[in-house]
Amino acid sequence: MKEQLQVLKAEALAEIGNANESKVLNEIRVKYLGKKGSLTAILRGMGSLSAEERPVIGELANKVRQEIEIAIDERLITVEAAEQAAILAKERIDIFLPGRQRKKGFPHPLQLVIEEIEEIFLGLGFTIAEGPEVETDYHSFEALNLPKNHPARDMQDSLYITQDIVLRPHTSPVQIRTMEKLNPQPIRIIAPGRVYRRDALDATHSPIFHQIEGLVVDEGITFGDLKGILTIFAKRLFGEDRQVRFRPSYFPFTEPSAEVDVSCGCNGKGCRICKGSGWLEILGAGSVNPVVLQMSKYDPDKVSGFAFGMGVERIAMLKYEINDIRVFLENDQRFLAQF
Ligand code: PHE
Repeated sequence: MKEQLQVLKAEALAEIGNANESKVLNEIRVKYLGKKGSLTAILRGMGSLSAEERPVIGELANKVRQEIEIAIDERLITVEAAEQAAILAKERIDIFLPGRQRKKGFPHPLQLVIEEIEEIFLGLGFTIAEGPEVETDYHSFEALNLPKNHPARDMQDSLYITQDIVLRPHTSPVQIRTMEKLNPQPIRIIAPGRVYRRDALDATHSPIFHQIEGLVVDEGITFGDLKGILTIFAKRLFGEDRQVRFRPSYFPFTEPSAEVDVSCGCNGKGCRICKGSGWLEILGAGSVNPVVLQMSKYDPDKVSGFAFGMGVERIAMLKYEINDIRVFLENDQRFLAQF
């Protein structure tokens, strides 16, 4: 039995020495020392031993058990350390790797220009109004003093949905809707929004673009107020050093009417942007035609007003020296990321 125990110990120690995984070491523990293990099997034969032999073998068996246990525990320390090191090496984070870049979004340049213009007018006491893009013929034309066969309707080649419903060709119908809503209160609003025209897309035309409308109605409003407000506006938007000029023009809904120019950044030298003229046209405006006030139930004998309308794309193009309107629609990141 002594020999059996020695052989078992030698085998066990050899296996332990060769084991490179903690899992294998635990299997070895069970195989030799477990309830159904080899050592237990040998000890079962103790019954056949003499009374003198029994304690000797018993002591030896205990020693063998202890030695195997110690060998396993010691081997485990090394093996587990190696396993831990392997896990750490595998899960190691390289803090010097460049991070994955997540691109940030940014507002569209047209949105930036709209917001900038809104800020200027909010600072002048205006509020922001809105109206539908799918409009009635009445709000788009009739109520703006453009009756059905008025030649000025040709000025706006519109996209009709039915005879009476149209994709608004300008933001001026918001003038009418605001007067209907606020009557008889005074009005001081701007109305930004999308407008539609029957135009083919090219460098300077787009069937969809944006306008910002303005309307002021109150007692004692004069053309001088219009000039004052629009001069402040143009200088805030383009620079205090710019000049502003008013040229006589015609719109059915304003009388008198004007087109407003701001002096070009080339300072009158004449450049590509102003086509040598030194002036940039930025908007149409005028005193509200009394006929328009009357149709929307404001008393032209008591109140007067002024209105203006500007193209946002046009203003953005002048401000940022962009020469093709299509870039606003193309969503080219190289363009959009510049703002
Ligand atoms: N609605 C005009 C246009 O689209 C602009 C305008 C608005 C002119 C208000 C005068 C007053 O061209």
